[in-house]
Amino acid sequence: MAGLVRVFAPQCEILFKGAWNLASSVSRHQLRANSTASRHYRFFQKHFAVKNSVTSLGGCRAASSSSNFRGGEESEKRSTSQTESGSSGPTSNGQSADMPPVSTNDGISAAQVFNLVVEKSICAVFGPNDLQQSKVLPIIESLTDKDNIGVATVTDAAQTKRILEVTGRNSLPLFFVKGDCVGNFEDLYALKENGRLTSWLESHKYDLIVIGGGSGGLAAAKEAARLGKKVACLDYVKPSPQGSTWGLGGTCVNVGCIPKKLMHQAALLGESIKDAKRFGWDIPEGQVTHNWNRMRDGIQDYIASLNWGYRVQLREKTVTYLNSYGTFTGPHEISAKNKRGKIEKITADRFLVATGLRPRYPPAEGAKEYCITSDDLFSLPYNPGKTLCIGASYVSLECAGFLHGIGLDVTVMVRSILLRGFDQDIAGRIHKHMIAKGIKFESGVPIKFEQLEVPTNSKPGRVKVTSVNVLENGDKEEFVEEYNTVLIAVGRDAATDDCGFDVADVKTSKSGKVIGRHEQSETNPYVYAIGDVLDGCPELTPVAIQAGRVLMRRLYTGNMEMTEYDKIPTTVFTPLEYGCCGLSEEDALKQYGKENINIYHNVFVPLEYSVPERMDTEHCYCKLICLKTDDDRVLGYHILSPNSGEITQGFAIALKLGGKKADFDRLIGIHPTVAENFTTLTILKTDDAGELKASGC
Ligand SMILES: Cc1cc2nc3c(=O)[nH]c(=O)nc-3n(C[C@H](O)[C@H](O)[C@H](O)COP(=O)(O)OP(=O)(O)OC[C@H]3O[C@@H](n4cnc5c(N)ncnc54)[C@H](O)[C@@H]3O)c2cc1C
Ligand SMILES: NC(=O)c1ccc[n+]([C@@H]2O[C@H](COP(=O)([O-])OP(=O)(O)OC[C@H]3O[C@@H](n4cnc5c(N)ncnc54)[C@H](OP(=O)(O)O)[C@@H]3O)[C@@H](O)[C@H]2O)c1
Repeated sequence: MAGLVRVFAPQCEILFKGAWNLASSVSRHQLRANSTASRHYRFFQKHFAVKNSVTSLGGCRAASSSSNFRGGEESEKRSTSQTESGSSGPTSNGQSADMPPVSTNDGISAAQVFNLVVEKSICAVFGPNDLQQSKVLPIIESLTDKDNIGVATVTDAAQTKRILEVTGRNSLPLFFVKGDCVGNFEDLYALKENGRLTSWLESHKYDLIVIGGGSGGLAAAKEAARLGKKVACLDYVKPSPQGSTWGLGGTCVNVGCIPKKLMHQAALLGESIKDAKRFGWDIPEGQVTHNWNRMRDGIQDYIASLNWGYRVQLREKTVTYLNSYGTFTGPHEISAKNKRGKIEKITADRFLVATGLRPRYPPAEGAKEYCITSDDLFSLPYNPGKTLCIGASYVSLECAGFLHGIGLDVTVMVRSILLRGFDQDIAGRIHKHMIAKGIKFESGVPIKFEQLEVPTNSKPGRVKVTSVNVLENGDKEEFVEEYNTVLIAVGRDAATDDCGFDVADVKTSKSGKVIGRHEQSETNPYVYAIGDVLDGCPELTPVAIQAGRVLMRRLYTGNMEMTEYDKIPTTVFTPLEYGCCGLSEEDALKQYGKENINIYHNVFVPLEYSVPERMDTEHCYCKLICLKTDDDRVLGYHILSPNSGEITQGFAIALKLGGKKADFDRLIGIHPTVAENFTTLTILKTDDAGELKASGC
């Protein structure tokens, strides 16, 4: 026994030191757990000494479904016989004397590891010659039944790399509990110390609770249920400051993409009606008007049908839907509060946070009281009338575009630049086009809103807006203007303050978003986040949906698919739609240097504009940003034209596949379309060239 202690003491020390060093980088609960170093040390001493004196390490290896894994019946037998004979403990290299050589696990694949991970309550994945192995396994054995433990040793560097890529970790060994990667042994130990592991290993009512029934949450809930899991999905909409609320489906369906695109369509139809005359349609002069209420009701009816459809889908997939607000009230417990104030407590092994974002308000007096946001606009009881859109990104420009398109007097208030983060050449072209259409732009930020007239159900009110603009020389100009409606679109925030993240130890960024590692909370391994609420995630519906589905397949089937957050195509639905994928010109030049970039571009006129003699003929534009040093590989794709969303979705695959300019050139166009312009791009963008003009087809 004394010999054993001598052998183990240095090893314990290594683990102990590791845990101590790790304390600076791990989560708050881990910090708390790691803070008592002596407790840590006693734990190791106690467990290593006692366990290893009576049980061989071979016996610690649990059954696995694959013959490539250590353990199974063979190791069970080995365990029994060795225990009976009081067989020896580890050797000085940290391995059991009777343990099969590590090389027996050669060839074990990452795929097999993840299969094991989803099958077992606790899984330990070691690298070759892992000295921790013999120390750690007895401790794991003390936590749960042997049958629930999986052990794998990975010897192949490529397979190890894949495991680390999928888990977002740096090194083996890694430990998994109920399929979730916990980290290294110190992380697992910290969970044991703070009691979380015990409650985690208990059985819970649900396999998964999804908090938030928007694009991402619904997709994930349905996918998990399809994979045979018991799932509950909570969705609850807190009313906006103006009192707007809506049904199941989240932002996209109720107050985002869907009503926005339909109102954009209403505006495009207005444009088409004007064109239609020149194409032979008789449209009585002066009789074309737009009816806000009819448009709103048509759209809202469609949304109601979608809300109903989602409920039906959840029922069909046997997902329990709770129209309740979810708050963590225990490590594995959610309190679900419905609109009558009734609270139901439910538990789960795993949680998915998909709570999305809500509109932000500027720090200006009267903003919440007298202004609306996109949460209110699409169900507004009255025609908004003369409208000020504050903000100069997606939401503001899109809303300004369709409100003007249905005939309203619209002004956009710009704090700095249009479409921050997007290609600024294109942003400038959008600006020019919107001005040409009749949309006004003001520079400044609002400082005060005063209500001059209260809106009624049939009539908008009047709001006096005071704004300030800081000039280049530092002087400030103050402006006062009256509008019927002020739409605030200055960004969106995660409303997670009251989600009980402190109870569940889910760390958030300053903006309230969940900090994740491949969608897994950095601080709580059984909590995941997807969609808008995940820090650093592009705030787009298809991203949330894809992440939800892919994550569920990864967690419940063990496949290694990952959501690819790069080269995501997107479209801004301004009057002329702007579609893009990959890098902006600014980012390409910054990343690769001007000398390494070729930019091919052109201005074109859609054929549809010709007969009606549209005035906005110089605005449609496309460009490919290519990397000279890699055979003109296309880094960035940009188009400003009608139907850009449709066109961009198709071309984006070329960027995903590493398409080169020559591939675009080899592609034969479809004539006459606007998309064919990408197959005939010959003009290189240069600093000294004048403004491009469109040529005929
Ligand atoms: C005006 C506008 C236009 C947009 N247009 C587009 C577009 O054209 N294309 C595009 O791709 N994206 C668009 N977006 C963005 C898109 O809507 C979001 O990226 C997407 O909805 C995010 O999905 P999500 O699942 O992360 O969150 P959401 O869809 O926001 O869902 C979150 C849900 O969780 C609920 N919830 C929050 N907290 C709790 C809680 N504690 N308990 C229970 N429920 C809770 C919320 O009420 C909500 O129903 C637009 C957004 C806006 C505002
Ligand atoms: N078509 C689509 O796919 C689509 C459509 C709509 C929304 N979305 C998603 O929704 C997200 C949110 O869009 P968003 O447009 O609401 O927000 P956003 O992209 O964060 O832009 C906020 C805008 O408001 C301005 N702003 C911030 N504070 C201001 C203030 N106090 N006064 C005046 N202006 C102010 C910003 O100016 P600065 O540049 O000076 O900071 C910026 O122009 C987007 O990231 C997008 O992913 C997508």
